[in-house]
Amino acid sequence: MSRADLEKQPYDVATMFDGIAQRYDLMNDIAAMGQVGMWRDLMVQALEIAPGDEVLDLAAGTGTSTTAIARAGARVAAADFSLGMMSEGRRRGAPVPFIGADAQRLPFAEDSFDAAVISFGLRNVHEPRRALAEMVRVVRPGGRVVVCEFSTPSWRPFRTVYEKYLLRALPAVAGMVTTTADAYEYLAESILEWPDQEALRGWFLAAGMERAQYRNLSGGIVALHRGVVPVS
Ligand SMILES: C[S@@+](CC[C@H](N)C(=O)[O-])C[C@H]1O[C@@H](n2cnc3c(N)ncnc32)[C@H](O)[C@@H]1O
Repeated sequence: MSRADLEKQPYDVATMFDGIAQRYDLMNDIAAMGQVGMWRDLMVQALEIAPGDEVLDLAAGTGTSTTAIARAGARVAAADFSLGMMSEGRRRGAPVPFIGADAQRLPFAEDSFDAAVISFGLRNVHEPRRALAEMVRVVRPGGRVVVCEFSTPSWRPFRTVYEKYLLRALPAVAGMVTTTADAYEYLAESILEWPDQEALRGWFLAAGMERAQYRNLSGGIVALHRGVVPVS
């Protein structure tokens, strides 16, 4: 089993996700202790989809996040660079088009979408600020950019317990359900290394977005960030 290290070299990250594709959604449900459906619903709401909107779901994996967006009435494409994750999504019949794409160099023209989202993906991207700049480039002026990502719990005593869960319990549980506990060690370490809510909000502003805001979900285990591409 291959596991990416925190350098997040694209080939290593794609190979790691190829390796966990079949069990990814099951492990997600277990690791998130039943919260993931609620996080996805709020991610879809943050996109503020209007009838006929075209949405890009970046780092879409097996297309589970994309399917939730399609159900809200958007025309949505799933883009990812792991062929294993996309093949698993197709095999299960996800009702969305899959497109091979690197978040850091998107194969779309400027202003192609009304909104773009990356859920539980930006943390895995080698140069996340470049991916944010690419999302701003392909979304039309006035359109929305949403990032749903693990973050930093705001209450310190809870944070301490959560860090222990991530580093000890999660890889142990993953080892029972999958043969890929290594990937869940990477998951834990990558979450703990990831910038907190305010830092990510700063990246939104640096990428040129307006009205950059976030809200904490489940006490800050996840943060939902949203910005708007300026009109001029
Ligand atoms: C944890 S999964 C998230 C899947 C889905 N969005 C969800 O909410 O369940 C992360 C995905 O990010 C993809 N990814 C990581 N870096 C990427 C990049 N540079 N370009 C495209 N996809 C990338 C991986 O292949 C993987 O499928």
